[in-house]
Amino acid sequence: MQSVTVASRKTADATPHAASLIQSLRDIGYSCETALADIIDNSITAGSRRIDIFSDAGSDDPALAILDDGSGMSRSELIEAMRPGSRNPLADRLPDDLGRFGLGLKSASFSQCKRLTVLTRKDRQTSAATWDLDEIARSNRWEIELHEDFGEIPWSERLGEHGTLVVWRSLDRLSGGILQDVRRRAEHVNRAIASAERHVRLVFHRFMEDDRPPLRIRLNGRQLEPLDPFGTRHTAHQREMPDSLTLARGTVEFQSFTLPHHKSISPADWDDLGGPEGHLRSQGFYVYRGRRLIIAGSWLGLARQTELTKLCRIRVDIPNSMDADWKIDVKKASAQLPPAVRERMRLLVERLSLTSKRTYQRRGQRLVDQEYLPLWQRVQKDGAIIYRPDLAHPVFADFSVRLPEDLQADFANLVGLLGSSVPVAALHADFAGSPEEVRADEVDNLALKQMAEAMVPRLLAQGTDVERVIDILRQVEPFNTNWAVARTIVEEVIASESSNE
Ligand SMILES: Nc1ncnc2c1ncn2[C@@H]1O[C@H](COP(=O)(O)OP(=O)(O)OP(=O)(O)O)[C@@H](O)[C@H]1O
Ligand SMILES: [Mg+2]
Repeated sequence: MQSVTVASRKTADATPHAASLIQSLRDIGYSCETALADIIDNSITAGSRRIDIFSDAGSDDPALAILDDGSGMSRSELIEAMRPGSRNPLADRLPDDLGRFGLGLKSASFSQCKRLTVLTRKDRQTSAATWDLDEIARSNRWEIELHEDFGEIPWSERLGEHGTLVVWRSLDRLSGGILQDVRRRAEHVNRAIASAERHVRLVFHRFMEDDRPPLRIRLNGRQLEPLDPFGTRHTAHQREMPDSLTLARGTVEFQSFTLPHHKSISPADWDDLGGPEGHLRSQGFYVYRGRRLIIAGSWLGLARQTELTKLCRIRVDIPNSMDADWKIDVKKASAQLPPAVRERMRLLVERLSLTSKRTYQRRGQRLVDQEYLPLWQRVQKDGAIIYRPDLAHPVFADFSVRLPEDLQADFANLVGLLGSSVPVAALHADFAGSPEEVRADEVDNLALKQMAEAMVPRLLAQGTDVERVIDILRQVEPFNTNWAVARTIVEEVIASESSNE
């Protein structure tokens, strides 16, 4: 290695080795979905209204492409764009520029493939260039290939008057390293693309919903529907007052939402909102940078994901002028909270869990409200919450007095035993997993009738009118879960009580 002495300063040539540095660019932690989103970022920044994702998983050289109708690039802009580190991360960007590092196009592509070709058209000039990692490994030179003939580039005929086509070939990573078995390789690629579909619908939903005209993203010709994680198209969602925090380099906006209850939307919509991780794991902050989602469903260390706050999601909007404060990474998949923002978010979380707790406690109080005569009592004792069958409930009391005296104590013990053997740990596990599938056992009609016969006379004797009796029973277990059947039974009991009077 040459060494040069400049005045009193001694330097040596430390140009990076192309072959090894470009190889390490491959491993900065992209998945198929984050890589795809990074390419789509560029298309959106270039003003695209229509983006097509194409895949050809079954051929000898499987390929994936992202085509847009954005501004396109001139030949010199294309060459600049292919350069790793094409822009200085410290430079100011326009507010709607989703980029920062001048790296995404290359690092996202190399994370999935070894051959990246970009074909682009602007002002009637068409240009194309390719990075080939095998070629760099051979030559150890930072050199791209410039194309004169575009015909061999898959989907090149789809490029419109202006726009860009990014093509990934030699999909060694995307095909999970499967080289020989074409069928298994195709399955692997298709699976990866299918799982990226939800990510794309979620990450770019605001461009697909709010823009005029809206951004259209298609996957192999099929248009993708936006996935709004706050369920705002369902009338049953709730939205709190917006809030904001202005700091030196920009304003952060907050908006809290409560998702619609699962009973008020279709099971398909409910599953779509919960995603593969489920609702418990999808609660929390949703952080958007320039309306593009960068963090989804996490309390960012400020709270735990609990059943109580399962339906809470808080939208946080940050501008790209605050990138340095938030320590945005190349993949746009992580960020750190600046201290002032963290403090505000902590307050938001506290307020939110207080509201949920209050709702929960209100429900608890109603449960012990004498008018409703529940079979189970919810008791708060020494900081614990205990559910216990209420021996004084008419259905138990009426039965008990019909027993011989020596059996009455046994009966009380049996009922007590039910209460003390509530399988709390199993219930807890089930609620943490798929709570909407947990429900009380079905009750047979005779048991319902027995319960109605115990409750109706007491309610009527308290002076409760018939309408109100029906209203009360409609809300308590087990009538509420079987109301269609229970209603007839309750009305029959009321009718026979009234005729006895
Ligand atoms: N689809 C596209 N249409 C037009 N120009 C593009 C397109 N994709 C990339 N470019 C140009 O190439 C440049 C480099 O893109 P690249 O994704 O590598 O970096 P970036 O978007 O500037 O920053 P980041 O690393 O944060 O993504 C962009 O700044 C843009 O000028
Ligand atoms: Mg980019």
